[in-house]
Amino acid sequence: MKPLVLTCATWCFCLLPSWSQAPRPLPALPPKLEPVAETKLLMEGIALPNLEGLNKLLKEKPDQEGWVFARGQALLIAENGNLLMLRPPKSKAAQDVWMTKATQLRDHATLLARSIADKDLEKSRANLVLLAKTCNLCHESFRVEARIQTQFENAK
Ligand code: HEC
Repeated sequence: MKPLVLTCATWCFCLLPSWSQAPRPLPALPPKLEPVAETKLLMEGIALPNLEGLNKLLKEKPDQEGWVFARGQALLIAENGNLLMLRPPKSKAAQDVWMTKATQLRDHATLLARSIADKDLEKSRANLVLLAKTCNLCHESFRVEARIQTQFENAK
């Protein structure tokens, strides 16, 4: 009897791996969004360079490549609004202000991306001014000294 039991056990052992090809069970909790970079890094690495790029690109009427590049820069600033929403301040009151300002950043940068996609230079310049104001309003609310300027503020 003994050898038979052994053989059976050996077979089961060998076959098990091929039976366990079913999809892996999902982890207990769904993956969640977690901020990893400092807010300052998002400002210096995404917000500012793309805004400065737009400020230069919209100085003259861009060529086809320039319009495509500018649209990308505006969309990166818009996406940064989503990233900022992952990094609200601690107090509830401050959180509401933060979320509103981050949403405005996303909306105004998206608006700019649209006018750039339409290759509308005047509208894009006006939208860039609006975007810079959006940066500054959040900075004022959170007592950040940085002030963002464009070269189109006084242009008509
Ligand atoms: C939702 C609020 C919010 C918005 C919108 C926002 N910022 Fe900021 N910004 C901050 C905060 C908070 C800091 C301070 C970060 C720190 O020092 O930890 C900051 C800091 C900065 C700094 C200074 C970084 C340094 O070296 O100390 C720059 C430059 C900057 N932001 C650029 C921008 C630009 C450009 C935009 C718009 C395209 C923008 N920010 C939009 C909240 C915002």
